[in-house]
Amino acid sequence: MKIPFVDLKAQYRAIKPEIDAAIAEVIEATAFVGGPAVAEFEQAFAAFIGAGHCVGVGNGTDAIELALRALSIGPGDEVITVANSFIATSEAITLAGAKVVFVDCDPATANIDTGRLAAAVTSRTKAIVPVHLYGRPADMAAIMDVARTHGLKVVEDCAQAHGATLDGRKVGTFGDAGCFSFYPGKNLGAYGDGGAVVTDDEALAGRVRKWANHGRLSKYDHEFEGVNSRLDGLQAAVLAVKLRHLDSWTEGRRRAARLYAEGLAGSGLDLPGDPAGGTHVYHLYVVRVAERERIQAALTEAGITTGVHYPMALPNLTAYRHLGHRPQDFPVASDHQDRVLSLPMFAEITAEQVEWVCRRLRAAL
Ligand SMILES: Cc1ncc(COP(=O)(O)O)c(C=O)c1O
Repeated sequence: MKIPFVDLKAQYRAIKPEIDAAIAEVIEATAFVGGPAVAEFEQAFAAFIGAGHCVGVGNGTDAIELALRALSIGPGDEVITVANSFIATSEAITLAGAKVVFVDCDPATANIDTGRLAAAVTSRTKAIVPVHLYGRPADMAAIMDVARTHGLKVVEDCAQAHGATLDGRKVGTFGDAGCFSFYPGKNLGAYGDGGAVVTDDEALAGRVRKWANHGRLSKYDHEFEGVNSRLDGLQAAVLAVKLRHLDSWTEGRRRAARLYAEGLAGSGLDLPGDPAGGTHVYHLYVVRVAERERIQAALTEAGITTGVHYPMALPNLTAYRHLGHRPQDFPVASDHQDRVLSLPMFAEITAEQVEWVCRRLRAAL
């Protein structure tokens, strides 16, 4: 049985008439950058997240960079983030002009180890960028505690966690700003690049919008040099259609996670799950195995596509060699990089497909 890692074609087929009509409408209106489709999506996404404001931007990396810049974080400042994420998280901090300070992840959750947070704070620390990795909310209560104690801003990286909750609140509403990616493979994905910053702070939303649009006050009046990072009309129209289906797709992912948990019970693997009082949205279903290459090869042989998120912890990347870290400085992230294995996960995955993955994975183990 052939099982892809994600199946964007199956998703498109299920909503083709809605998507095609929404795209045609934008083309007919020739509202390609900004315009009504962007405004409507921003409103709908803010309401979905439960935030006062949403600013559409060019991608998720820009969302983090622009949120930091709008919070006046830049050269001379330190920003703390987690050692296990996609490089976009730390890259955005550097792009804003600040210095990245990595903290190891928690062995059980793979999110930032909040027990190590306070020790990473110095007199230069200005912000924390927690990541809700794989779709599992980070421990926002503990993170906000440290932030309040030390007067730090918090910019949540929600790129993998659209709709994930803690105590009934969606991620992106705990910190000063929440940053989302709409890269096509994300839980809410556009048909190209896209991103958004959500916040309850109207002034902050206004500053992000200015930053994303050449520091513009009006058409040819500019308060400062910003960047060009705007959500386009076609992507906003696609996203608005898909947002209407997001809750049911999340339920599909959570059903698949339950089937994986049943199928892999007793296998000895640590399986991902909900945090206390919260919900995981399973952007990725990540287990940890010994002899990953052998297991991955056995699954490939059985027609099952898997992934590795991520094969190198951020501090171990060549890009951060200048920081002088050693793998043993981040023992948990450095251990995870050798053992993490992402199993096929998408809303449309069938019970039969999950059962096949579990059977072949058990056989390989
Ligand atoms: C954790 C995380 N942060 C940030 C990003 C950046 O998003 P984008 O690719 O839209 O720039 C991604 C996307 O891959 C991500 O996975």
